[in-house]
Amino acid sequence: MKTNAETNTSSHTNANPAVTGRRALLGGAAALGLAGAAFGGTAHALGGAESKSRSRAGRFQGKSVLVTGATSGIGRAAAKAFAAEGAHVGFCGRRADLGRQVEREIRDAGGEATYIQADVRVAAQVQSFVDRVASRYGGIDVAFNNAGIGGGKLPHEMSVEEWDDVQATNARGVFLAIKYEIPYMLGAQRGVIICTSSSAAEQARPNSAAYTASKRAVQGIVKAAALAYGPQGIRLNALLPGTTDTAFVRPPGIPDADWATYKQAWGPLNVDGLERMADAEEIARAVLGLASDDFPYMTGASVAVDGGSTAGRKMVQPRGN
Ligand SMILES: NC(=O)c1ccc[n+]([C@@H]2O[C@H](COP(=O)([O-])OP(=O)(O)OC[C@H]3O[C@@H](n4cnc5c(N)ncnc54)[C@H](OP(=O)(O)O)[C@@H]3O)[C@@H](O)[C@H]2O)c1
Repeated sequence: MKTNAETNTSSHTNANPAVTGRRALLGGAAALGLAGAAFGGTAHALGGAESKSRSRAGRFQGKSVLVTGATSGIGRAAAKAFAAEGAHVGFCGRRADLGRQVEREIRDAGGEATYIQADVRVAAQVQSFVDRVASRYGGIDVAFNNAGIGGGKLPHEMSVEEWDDVQATNARGVFLAIKYEIPYMLGAQRGVIICTSSSAAEQARPNSAAYTASKRAVQGIVKAAALAYGPQGIRLNALLPGTTDTAFVRPPGIPDADWATYKQAWGPLNVDGLERMADAEEIARAVLGLASDDFPYMTGASVAVDGGSTAGRKMVQPRGN
């Protein structure tokens, strides 16, 4: 996580498990917001979905799917997975080079996608993005409001501007997306919206005040909107991923082998249950499931896909007992 709230991944590039283990348990230094564009999720293997996309008419055949924050990580994996199941995907993010690359990868695999540069903090850009996706693909059947940043700092060390940026991206950005998506869904009297919250909404860390607050806000927006628009056939749910191996948590520049070693040590220390991080494709599969027709009675829910991390912790006995 870019937030120590989900992963205690340290911002340090020292991936020695012996060093990082205690740091991880203690919350570590802030990885929140530190992972940059360098990794961009490009290391993830997505070949399975891609190789099937030409032949498979999937659950989302011909549907218009909008994704915010799909230039890397979970959003990128979801955009690819939706396209591989036949969706027409309009997605945004600020990094145009990565956006165009994702668009190219989807098209090369036989899918349909359009990248539109937009910053979810800017109302006019969100409105224009939503309008362009709807106009290009004929409305909006599914929206995955996923763009987000970390920001792991103790409250007294965080600037007001840093706090505001986390809220503007994670909470206000989701509000803006919903604000401009809903009119299209009201017109159609149907639609599905999934918003990325986080296991950190349920499970704070010492340095996660801004992030946890923002992801709880996402849950609040989703619950209220689910009540408001349920009668019009529109479902909204919040997805709470646990720590997921994306640029959000992976320190920039760390070699693959060191990162693999780090992850192996990190899992059992931090995720009671499955004892590992998720990968982006696993979270994307949950997004597609929630967006599909398989859950017609689910709305206003917060769905944790976190390997068991919010279920609780093991009881650890003091040494010698
Ligand atoms: N990885 C985890 O452990 C984890 C766990 C729980 C929840 N999450 C949540 O999952 C979501 C995706 O994160 P990720 O793990 O996939 O990390 P990531 O690879 O850093 O992806 C974040 C995405 O959000 C976009 N974004 C950030 N600020 C934006 C802005 N102002 N306008 C438009 N797009 C913006 C980024 O695109 P640009 O930089 O190109 O704008 C990028 O596409 C986030 O909401 C995050 O809070 C992550």
